Amino acid sequence: MATINDNYLKLKAGYLFPEIGRRVNAFADANPDANIIRLGIGDVTEPLPDACRSAMIRAVEEMGDRASFRGYGPEQGYAWLREKIAAHDFQARGCDIDASEIFISDGSKCDTGNILDIFGNNNTIAVTDPVYPVYVDTNVMAGHTGEANDRGEYGGLVYLPISAENNFTAEIPTEKVDLIYLCFPNNPTGATASKEHLQAWVDYARSNGSILFFDAAYEAFITDPELPHSIYEIEGARECAIEFRSFSKNAGFTGTRCALTVVPKSLTGKAADGSDVELWKLWNRRQSTKFNGVSYIVQRGTEAVYSPEGQAQTKALVNFYLENAKIIREQLTVAGLKVYGGVNAPYVWVQTPQGLSSWDFFDKLLHTCNVVGTPGSGFGAAGEGYFRISAFNSRENVEEAMQRITQTFRV
Ligand code: MLT
Repeated sequence: MATINDNYLKLKAGYLFPEIGRRVNAFADANPDANIIRLGIGDVTEPLPDACRSAMIRAVEEMGDRASFRGYGPEQGYAWLREKIAAHDFQARGCDIDASEIFISDGSKCDTGNILDIFGNNNTIAVTDPVYPVYVDTNVMAGHTGEANDRGEYGGLVYLPISAENNFTAEIPTEKVDLIYLCFPNNPTGATASKEHLQAWVDYARSNGSILFFDAAYEAFITDPELPHSIYEIEGARECAIEFRSFSKNAGFTGTRCALTVVPKSLTGKAADGSDVELWKLWNRRQSTKFNGVSYIVQRGTEAVYSPEGQAQTKALVNFYLENAKIIREQLTVAGLKVYGGVNAPYVWVQTPQGLSSWDFFDKLLHTCNVVGTPGSGFGAAGEGYFRISAFNSRENVEEAMQRITQTFRV
């Protein structure tokens, strides 16, 4: 009889967003006339930038001609795209990142999970609490944790609490951890990290031989010129950090799929025999074996992000969602709710009113306002009593949702 990966049985309930979807669908089935506004999962709503669409249409035409048809592309992504990313997103900010250190992929969610393939099973792993659930669940699936306790915390993981008291930036641990997940601008709290804070992490990682997994999927939402967009803006990060980026939120690619992971060639990990091994080689080997690259058409669409029109159009998209975030923050604040984030990030982190638990607030909001958000406790035990509202929606829906919420929950 075939056996299963028993680690999956340790996972708590469903993945957060499908669970929300299940509750919303049940409500919608029972209330077919309800006009439900979804500010839960951070999924974009506005059309793809014209520059990206036009580039993809041209690429489709090329695929229709034997002379310009493309089959398998490089597993790492086409050099013309990686070179643009290296120049624009990294070198222009003073980051010493070469195109050969960039790997194009179909998503940061996949890559933050897949990266575990190249690491051993005995690393001590730290995550913030609350946290993007993918970091935790992929470690559970890989067998890197024990069972969950009744707060949903898995044995073996080191949880670094983030709260209003520490500006949602974790304290540097006093113990030694090997792999650390950081996400800035933060999902779910919308918090940001200063250069000094990231320098402290890089210094910690270098003195402990740790690797930082730096998720910068929301970097395009940074408007404060003092804030770093990349971990490689920090001295020493080439020796201790892998960075994940995505085109999902800045270019509206959640359904189109394109992202990238940076693995500097100077990064090493320890083999069982004590030797130092380049992580770049392992990730390159992993991608060449398990991945066939992102489609030519999508990579051409992504390349257009870096054209002058693409830059202007993606900036306009980001500004549109940031304006939504501002409306959410301002309206909820006027109604007396305590809010965080939403300034350099598309997420607003709200303290639940009336002492409601996160899921109770979720149900109340769904049933009385027909608005969907994400319960903070779904991101970890320390998220209890909080609620995440996503700014990814039309202006009309955001304004309507805020009107409904502030009428019901004015405190
Ligand atoms: C979220 O809502 O947290 C994000 O949409 C999840 C993701 O990007 O995978």
